[in-house]
Amino acid sequence: MRFASVNYEQRGTTALITLDEPGKLNALSPGIREGLVAAFAQADDDDQIRAVVLTGAGDKAFCAGADISGFEFNTRYARDFMDRVLDVLSLPETTGKPVIAAVNGYAYGGGFEIAIACDFVLASKQARFAVPEINLGLLPGFAIVRLAELVGRQQAKYLSMIGEPISPQRACELGLVLEVLPHDQLLNRALELAEQLAHKPQLAIRYAKSVYNRSLGGADMTYAKDAMPVLFLDDDTREGVAAFREKRKPVFK
Ligand code: COA
Repeated sequence: MRFASVNYEQRGTTALITLDEPGKLNALSPGIREGLVAAFAQADDDDQIRAVVLTGAGDKAFCAGADISGFEFNTRYARDFMDRVLDVLSLPETTGKPVIAAVNGYAYGGGFEIAIACDFVLASKQARFAVPEINLGLLPGFAIVRLAELVGRQQAKYLSMIGEPISPQRACELGLVLEVLPHDQLLNRALELAEQLAHKPQLAIRYAKSVYNRSLGGADMTYAKDAMPVLFLDDDTREGVAAFREKRKPVFK
């Protein structure tokens, strides 16, 4: 089955959801966003499905984050963008079934964020993790709220204010990743973990997930959301985005 730019495959009791725009490094384009919403709805509605595995097509990227090519610099766009993107990034949290991220390459920006929204993160040795929004004059609005809880304030600030990539081994040391695997074993291990989860009592699994996730969001997320329109009007943001599009280093004021 295919929903917009997302492939959906049933493997036994597991839904394998694959972001499929490898030419754009599976960035969160309108097609990927629409496909993710539909694919998660399909997995949620199908009683046979007991777990979801989320991965990216191609060998290079899991997901390179928000689709920078579509950015517009006005307040309305910034608000709509945050609403749309946050709804998509939180899909792994809002679905009742356990979700495993199989991070097969770059997990940058929104790609990093949707990975950490999953219940378990498995990473290939080829994976790279970063929240590089600062280099565009922006914020990783979702990660900034989740990261401090996951890795502590020091590491969270370093990751989001420096924006440099880290290796999967480092992500594992920080507690962002459960296991680092040889690239060719990643998907099988993710499917195996999904199978293990499928054999557990489902009501208890649902409660376990919702207990962990129920305190997420709230006022901090609203604050991060409100920052985005302000940032989208800043000259440094225009420069950061222009520099990415023109494949050059940004010069911030
Ligand atoms: N949005 C839109 N297009 C993107 C993208 C994004 N987030 N990330 C990559 N792409 C596109 C590139 O523009 C390029 O397209 P082109 O072939 O038409 O020029 C293609 O995907 C391949 O990317 P490229 O940058 O050439 O690959 P690379 O291996 O040199 O670098 C990254 C990979 C992930 C380091 C780099 O693409 C990157 O930094 N991406 C942006 C990540 C980011 O800032 N995300 C947060 C956005 S808020």
